[in-house]
Amino acid sequence: MFILIRQLIFKLSPETAHHVTMVILRFLTRVPGAFPCIRFFSGIRKHQHQVQTVAGISFPNIIGLAAGFDKDAQYLSVWRALGFGHVEIGTLTPLAQDGNEQPRLFRLPMDMALINRMGFNNKGVDAAIEHLKNRPKGLIVGGNIGKNKNTPKETAYEDYLLCFDKLYAYVDYFTVNVSSPNTPGLRDLQTISELEIIIQPLLNKRKEKQKEGLPFVPIFVKLAPDLALDTLSDLVAYINQTEVDGIVMTNTTVSREGLKTPSAIIENIGNGGLSGAPLFEKSTDMLIHAKSVLSKDKYIIGVGGIYSGNDAFQKREAGAHLLQVYSGFVYKGPSLIGSILKALKST
Ligand code: FNR
Repeated sequence: MFILIRQLIFKLSPETAHHVTMVILRFLTRVPGAFPCIRFFSGIRKHQHQVQTVAGISFPNIIGLAAGFDKDAQYLSVWRALGFGHVEIGTLTPLAQDGNEQPRLFRLPMDMALINRMGFNNKGVDAAIEHLKNRPKGLIVGGNIGKNKNTPKETAYEDYLLCFDKLYAYVDYFTVNVSSPNTPGLRDLQTISELEIIIQPLLNKRKEKQKEGLPFVPIFVKLAPDLALDTLSDLVAYINQTEVDGIVMTNTTVSREGLKTPSAIIENIGNGGLSGAPLFEKSTDMLIHAKSVLSKDKYIIGVGGIYSGNDAFQKREAGAHLLQVYSGFVYKGPSLIGSILKALKST
């Protein structure tokens, strides 16, 4: 059934397909019995509850939807109904922005992959907060934050701080995104000195919020799979010395190595971050390396190329405490959640 629906949806351009799918799914949340049926036939229902406590938060299960899918927190009830334990909204920026010109999202079906150069298209942090005010219970929501395209590197920390401050009372954890390849200069923030400028004000702000009586909200940093191993070690060693709670490994890659799609097609697509099956090995290797340096009291969210229960198992064995999917969900649909939860339950 899903294969047939996917064939129809894949006839549309990727971005249109995304919007059409979301409108249908949101409509289905209002149809009595529709989601229990989807959960039943996707094998999610039986395995949905596998509580995982990470950084003091009780996640209903290990699997979440990665950042970028529901940037503006518009479809939270859909994710909950589909059985995700968490969703990472964003990347949110202080001001709304359109992102890059279309087309900016491409499918590589031969590789089970996507290339995107969306460029943080989002309606801004205030619009997301309006949606978060009606968030459904039983779903953990992470706020992935970044900087506006026109904000220079020197004042980038102000964008992160503003999003952090505004979102603090509305999300369960934060991800500081310094690793998307589609915002010029963003990945240059992946140095100890730049990261310190961004992170320290957030840690101070968190203390202030706690003094005001708000709960502790964990902070993760999302890193690129393209970092040199030495740089990754240095960044993780820095994170060990801070009160940051963990890392998200990884964002998309700028590499095009090992793809089956003809190189002429790849060249024609141009710049962007590659995600999906070809990212699995690289992002898992980076996770393993990061884990070898990371303090035992910190956590890892593993993301990149998860398409099956076995992939999820491997990512968890590599050291991930939580998992996220994006491209796998596009290609495999809701049954991916069921197969992951089933595979992990039986181990
Ligand atoms: C992303 N990703 C992403 N990450 C992020 O931190 N902020 C963002 O805004 C986005 N936006 C985004 C858009 C699109 C179209 C894609 C495909 C991806 C990256 C995503 O969260 C994830 O890290 C990677 O896609 C790797 O996971 P998968 O896709 O291989 O499961």
